[in-house]
Amino acid sequence: MKATHLYLLLQVFLSASVLVHTFAPLNLAVGVGALLWRKIDSYLHETCHPKWIALDATGLQVDLGNKMFGQHIASRIILQAVNEFMTNDNPKKPLVLSLHGSSGTGKNFVSQLIADNIYKEGMDSNFVHMFTSTLHFPHSSHLDTYKSQLQQWIKGNVSNCAQSMFIFDEMDKMHPSLIDSIKPYLDYYHKLDGVSYRKAIFIFLSNAGGEIIAQTALDFWKAGRDREKIELKDLETLLSLEAFNNKKSGLSHSSLIDNNLVDFFVPFLPLEYRHVVQCVMAEMKARGLRPDRGVADRLAKDVVYFPKSERVFSSQGCKTIEKKLKFYL
Ligand SMILES: Nc1ncnc2c1ncn2[C@@H]1O[C@H](COP(=O)(O)OP(=O)(O)OP(=O)(O)O)[C@@H](O)[C@H]1O
Ligand SMILES: [Mg+2]
Repeated sequence: MKATHLYLLLQVFLSASVLVHTFAPLNLAVGVGALLWRKIDSYLHETCHPKWIALDATGLQVDLGNKMFGQHIASRIILQAVNEFMTNDNPKKPLVLSLHGSSGTGKNFVSQLIADNIYKEGMDSNFVHMFTSTLHFPHSSHLDTYKSQLQQWIKGNVSNCAQSMFIFDEMDKMHPSLIDSIKPYLDYYHKLDGVSYRKAIFIFLSNAGGEIIAQTALDFWKAGRDREKIELKDLETLLSLEAFNNKKSGLSHSSLIDNNLVDFFVPFLPLEYRHVVQCVMAEMKARGLRPDRGVADRLAKDVVYFPKSERVFSSQGCKTIEKKLKFYL
């Protein structure tokens, strides 16, 4: 920097400080302005603050009741688990939910409902993170890199905001050692390297156990028993055993299960014809169309059901409805 520049800079600095001292009210105005701006900014931009992150318990209850079809067990557990966790000021560990069920039964959908009712920005929140194993961790040769990246990522995000939510999709396709690398964050530690993970939420999604759940639902159907009578206890033990023993499931080899780090195994039942109809009606409504039962019936009839002879449960749940609808309008 040239001497003349330095001189000029000094002049500006001196005159500014003279001004600030001479005009104390101006000083005050600047301070108030900055404070106001910070306030406005925190309204406009998401921060890790109760204004942006707070459970809307009624909203969650209403959404689970009105938007999610055929999942009485999952709805009940999720509502209770999320409510208890979010109203506890001092949880002993993060909330860990493991959602199981066959395709298109609502596992991603319910994760979105949870996010929508905790974070003002829902799934778009900077504090909601989604990992899909085949997308984010595709090469088993890079496992060590993935492990350290994942750990750093979780640590960084929780340090930034304790009430972060992590959704791990396709958990059954995730390498067991990668699952094990997140284990410390799920445990009952007060703090790890100065960071507390106890206010975070971890949601694991997988198809593991889907067949067992479907078999139980089919047994009930065959016995003429009401689907709503299926209880968590009819499935929970089977489910944790399946997740533990199924050689295809990444969960089976990991130590998440034998360490009891999963708070709830949440079963998603296979969906029936009537639920598919509800999904079509909901989709029409979401598109601003008048729900048309005739359209819903025609579409629902074309969906593939299993077992082949009885056609009780939709093989893809409600998954393909969104794409198919336009052909039925
Ligand atoms: N139980 C349900 N109630 C209402 N809508 C549902 C339900 N299940 C699925 N849907 C609809 O179908 C779409 C696909 O479901 P979703 O992605 O949640 O399935 P999934 O269980 O995650 O399946 P996969 O195991 O294949 O990933 C959802 O976005 C939602 O519109
Ligand atoms: Mg899914």
